[in-house]
Order: sequence, then structure tokens, then C-alpha cells
Amino acid sequence: MHSRIFLIGFMGSGKTTHGQKIARMTGYEFIDMDRWITEKEGASIPEIFKVHGESHFRELETIAIKELGHRDKIVIATGGGAPCHNNNMEIMKNSGLTVYLKMNSEELYNRLVHSKNERPLLRDKTDEEMRSYIEELLKEREPCYSQADMVIDGLYQVDERIVNAIQRKANSQ
Ligand code: S3P
Repeated sequence: MHSRIFLIGFMGSGKTTHGQKIARMTGYEFIDMDRWITEKEGASIPEIFKVHGESHFRELETIAIKELGHRDKIVIATGGGAPCHNNNMEIMKNSGLTVYLKMNSEELYNRLVHSKNERPLLRDKTDEEMRSYIEELLKEREPCYSQADMVIDGLYQVDERIVNAIQRKANSQ
């Protein structure tokens, strides 16, 4: 059985909330990758983007995925761009079960419009710019997200049925 579950999906798709719940229900440890990077670097995500640039942040994500990929019994909520940079998706698929929390761009916009300040890719955009940016970026990332081993509707509440399905899938790989 895979003892690592990587939750992937666009910003705002509920990776942290769902991840915490899955971890509670499976008895696994929960790690939020953005938070892990932030603590390691001693800087917030917007600060890392501002001072070192996005490509440096993407390198930090790859390091995090490799390091966390050695831990057991762990649920990892990844940042929205993580699976679509470097060869992160391949690394995650090789070391654990990848689960995509899928949502459409309108649902994502409604959830992100009130929390754009902590997200450097969104914070300087007007609401209208943000709406079309989310649509385009989701379209661009969808082929990468859809390589996940399992796809879950992000609007579903995580319940026993979903956790059982994740465990069945993890056991079969
Ligand atoms: C990003 C998503 C963010 C964070 C960074 C970049 C992205 O994580 O990693 O701001 O490229 O989609 P969340 O998906 O947790 O918001």
C-alpha cells in the first residue's frame, strides 16, 4: 500500500481542508507543503516570490516533494502549481498516490476572490483579470492535473466512502 497521499489541484480547491480530514480519518500525518516550505525558509510565499522569483519557489517545491516522498503514513497538500513544474508529477506518482481535487473555474473564482492577497499569482489582479486568469491557467494545468491516479470532485465533503476509495486505490498500487 502507498503510505503517501499527494493532494493536487488548483489554488482554492480545498487541498488543505480535505487533506486534514483524510489524515484524521486514516491516522496519517498531515503536511501542508506551502507551510512546510515557509517554515523551512523562514519567509512567506509572497516574500519568496518577491525576493527570489517564481522559479526559485518551484525549485523549493521539487526539494519538498523529494524530501516528503521518503516519509511514511503522510497526507501532503501540495501547492496548486507544484504538479505542473519540473518533473514533480512523475516524482509524486512514483512515490505515492496522487489525488486531484477537481473544480471548475467559476467555483474556484468564487472561493479565491476573497483570499487573493496571500497568493502572489493573484494578488495584483482586478477581479475581472483574476476571473480570466483562473480560466486560462486551469486550462493550461488541467492536462497535468488529470494525470492523477484518482480524481475527486472538490465540492464533495470528504466522508468515509471517499476515504475508503482512496485506501482501496492506495492498496491496489
Ligand atoms: C500556487 C499555489 C499556491 C502557492 C503559490 C503558487 C500556484 O498554493 O504554492 O502561491 O502556482 O498555483 P495553494 O494552491 O495552496 O494556494
